[in-house]
Amino acid sequence: MRNFQEVVYMVPRKIYPPQDAFVQQANYTTEREVFDDLQFWEEQASRLDWFAPWDQVLEGEFPFVKWFVNGKINASYNCLDRHLMSWRKNKAALIFEGEPGDQKVMTYKDLHRETSKFANVLKELGVEKGDIVTIYLPVMTEAVVAMLACARIGAIHSLVFGGFAPHALAERIKDSQSKILLTADGYWRRGEVIRTKDKVDEALEECPSVETVVVVSRVANAIRMKRNRDHWYHELMNYADNHCEAEVMDSEDTLFIKYTSGATGKPKGVVHTTGGYLTGASSTHYSVLDIKEEDVYWCAGDIEWITGHSYTVYGPLSNGATVILYEGAPDFPQKDRIWEIIEKYGVSIFYTSPTAVRMFMKWGNKWFADHDISTLRLLGSVGETMNPEAWTWFYEEVGKGRCPIVDTWWQTETGSIMISPLPGMTSLKPGSVATPLPGIAAEVVDDEGRPVPRGRNGYLVIKKPWPSMIRNIYKDTQKFLDTYWSVFDGAFYTGDGAYVDEDGYYWISGRVDDVINVSGYRLGSAELESAVLMHPLASEAAAIGMNDKNKRSAVCIFVTLTEGASPSEALEQEIVERIVEEIGSFAKPERVYFTKNLPKTRGGKIMRRLLRDVAEGRELGDTSTLLDVTVIDELMIRGGK
Ligand code: WTA
Repeated sequence: MRNFQEVVYMVPRKIYPPQDAFVQQANYTTEREVFDDLQFWEEQASRLDWFAPWDQVLEGEFPFVKWFVNGKINASYNCLDRHLMSWRKNKAALIFEGEPGDQKVMTYKDLHRETSKFANVLKELGVEKGDIVTIYLPVMTEAVVAMLACARIGAIHSLVFGGFAPHALAERIKDSQSKILLTADGYWRRGEVIRTKDKVDEALEECPSVETVVVVSRVANAIRMKRNRDHWYHELMNYADNHCEAEVMDSEDTLFIKYTSGATGKPKGVVHTTGGYLTGASSTHYSVLDIKEEDVYWCAGDIEWITGHSYTVYGPLSNGATVILYEGAPDFPQKDRIWEIIEKYGVSIFYTSPTAVRMFMKWGNKWFADHDISTLRLLGSVGETMNPEAWTWFYEEVGKGRCPIVDTWWQTETGSIMISPLPGMTSLKPGSVATPLPGIAAEVVDDEGRPVPRGRNGYLVIKKPWPSMIRNIYKDTQKFLDTYWSVFDGAFYTGDGAYVDEDGYYWISGRVDDVINVSGYRLGSAELESAVLMHPLASEAAAIGMNDKNKRSAVCIFVTLTEGASPSEALEQEIVERIVEEIGSFAKPERVYFTKNLPKTRGGKIMRRLLRDVAEGRELGDTSTLLDVTVIDELMIRGGK
């Protein structure tokens, strides 16, 4: 495990108390002292519609727990059917804006009908309860329809990021052994067509399990359709029946799996179940994102990301919100596109990432000077630490000093927001994620699992079960136990470092395991390393995440070469190419260091924290366990280049 450096105490420059105008209308205003977690969660679950009530709120202990035991529920029913009984049926559920400027609005009634039809299509194609459906779609209404259709019939969806290269897509399909895949012919990105279907064709060469591919036509480009395997979405939908009853699911039935990078090379399928997950996503979307009937809500990220699952689909739709979906790039045709969309639809809640905020800040205020963005009332952030400069800019310039910012900490594994301000109650400190939400038992501990004093860095852990927590790693319970439960007794290991200040506010310092978080994308160091090692001249590799002073992190590769090979720019380029080909261009390393040796412990483990010190130009931490100290001198010379 990583040894922590003494924390550099960040003294917040300014504290922002909640403003009266916001407080007066906020969903959560009174300090809620939670005396009884189970009662609290029971109240939250009661916000949903259940076919049959649970007979016990929580059963079991970490790591194997069941929430809302024997309760019967359907996520698709909660996102659709229950809204049809009121005027909400004609409310816009999804507003899609294509990159070329095309627009499509689907009411709750529309979304219900399309979902029911596609659920019938899936059934016709032989999909049954418990089967896994891989969804490899860009941001489009059909992605939401497909997710809700799976949920409707009890099939498990597995969404895969569109930026992944064919091999990375194939890895995820192979692990899930899904027989059916849903994709598109392509989508628009900066005026160009991204040829999604070609990537699928390439990936499927490695995946014999897939018998059926359903293709949504988005860009109408010429693609190859394989006879008996590939079908057009619109053709199948033509014949589908409008009516499909939502399946009665057990609270603990799997709703979806979401692959994410871990410490080992193989991606892990994080398993989420129905009742607990929906309770977490729906209740936090109400409390943290403060959703109201009249809001226009935009979570600007891929649906594939866990953020998209919880805060574009299940949270907002279960709350009957109007949700924006945008297909394309934020700077196309020019750098005001985001602000133009906010103005066009009157977006009131905008949930984005620190990377995006830093980019908007760099582009400058002139891009929204001519747009009316005064409908905004709440801003949100997720994925990385928001540096105070970016925070302040977002607050003052975009929010005009009126809109609270909810900086939300959570993970694929936690399913929903865990630590965050409650916008009508919490004073904000730029750079801090504030305090654990009601019902969440977060703590910062040392190597032995003891709570650390305030102001000292340690490991962020969760000490009590919560409804939307990860239930397992798909088909790999051992990995589930090793990754999250073997580090500390009786606590969920998040893999993040943090400290708590004198007011009880949490400050996240980033990953302390082998996961690299770049612009909100999670990459496993082992995944990157195995891509590098596919180069015949690479003999050993270590991948690390390197932070700059704005807490922006980038991938950095250290590589040793085979006998006789020597470093060159061409070789560096080839190594970068391997990563792009195997994983995708979003994983491109910022730097490649060639070195004769990698620093290792006597046990042969690569000491990544020393490499991090080198890359970030810091004084080296403890080197006492290092096998060969001379390695470091050589690295330092390289690091200083
Ligand atoms: C990081 C995304 C600082 C963290 C929902 C976590 C954050 C990882 C924040 C999970 C935040 C997420 N401040 N860091 N507000 N939110 N992270 O699984 O390192 O894609 O462990 O889930 O992102 O990334 P994931």
